[in-house]
Amino acid sequence: MSPERLDGQRGPVDNEEALLQLDSVSRIYPVTRVRALDQVSIAVSAGECVGVVGESGSGKSTLARVAVALERPDTGSVRFDGLDLGTLGGSELRRLRCEFQLLFQDSIAALPSRQTVGRTLREPLLAHRRPEASDPELVARWLARVELSPELEPRYPHELSGGERQRVALARALVLEPRLLVADEPVSSLDPSVRERILHLLVRLQRELGLSVLLISHDLSTVARMASRTVVLDQGQVAEEGPTDLVLRDPRAVATRRLLDPPTTSRVG
Ligand SMILES: Nc1ncnc2c1ncn2[C@@H]1O[C@H](COP(=O)(O)OP(=O)(O)OP(=O)(O)O)[C@@H](O)[C@H]1O
Ligand SMILES: [Mg+2]
Repeated sequence: MSPERLDGQRGPVDNEEALLQLDSVSRIYPVTRVRALDQVSIAVSAGECVGVVGESGSGKSTLARVAVALERPDTGSVRFDGLDLGTLGGSELRRLRCEFQLLFQDSIAALPSRQTVGRTLREPLLAHRRPEASDPELVARWLARVELSPELEPRYPHELSGGERQRVALARALVLEPRLLVADEPVSSLDPSVRERILHLLVRLQRELGLSVLLISHDLSTVARMASRTVVLDQGQVAEEGPTDLVLRDPRAVATRRLLDPPTTSRVG
């Protein structure tokens, strides 16, 4: 049975250019010669949430890094809003970087350890010389948006719970009001009740801000809650792709079936 969808996200609209378009992207790591991505094509339209699932090592994080231009593909192209990221110069790419953000699984690593929450939220705006950086209400407003108390402003990351930290990381990823959020296992390290609340928050913010989301997880049920379309990766290749409900109801690829029904592991103890 497919889990309840948190939101009826609209699917891709015909004849509309995708906001993010990966065409036949391959990525081979030089030293190990691991082919982490092999001819992967994925499109995300404006306002759409696309899920990417796959087992550990299937290439999900590589895909995330390539999608936000932290890594270049060896072959194929990544286009954002019609612009080929591989052909852009440094300053053009820097300007475009405001438009897409990556949210990591590990918020401890993602947040600067010596910066207060307040500083952490202002910093991206300062770096891009945005006038809102000096708005005295900025931090309180973003904390409220991610359902946190304004009292957290002077705290450091180690003084927050895992769930609070991930909310701050989410706010930091969104302060520049990007059009695309690539979320790599954003809730995997959290316990189930916190996970659920943060998923609800992500859905609400997606709707309010009109965000496109590439939601990456090893867990098909997490992706199914948010994504209208799902792509299944297997050893760097797209094993299956389609409307999430259909992928869940009628999985075609062996890799999808493995994710739906993982082999029972023996318990320790
Ligand atoms: N910097 C790197 N150098 C060499 N090989 C790498 C590098 N990063 C990833 N790989 C390899 O590429 C493949 C895909 O890795 P990736 O991190 O993209 O997988 P993943 O699907 O995100 O896995 P997980 O679910 O465990 O996070 C793996 O075989 C991995 O060992
Ligand atoms: Mg990963």
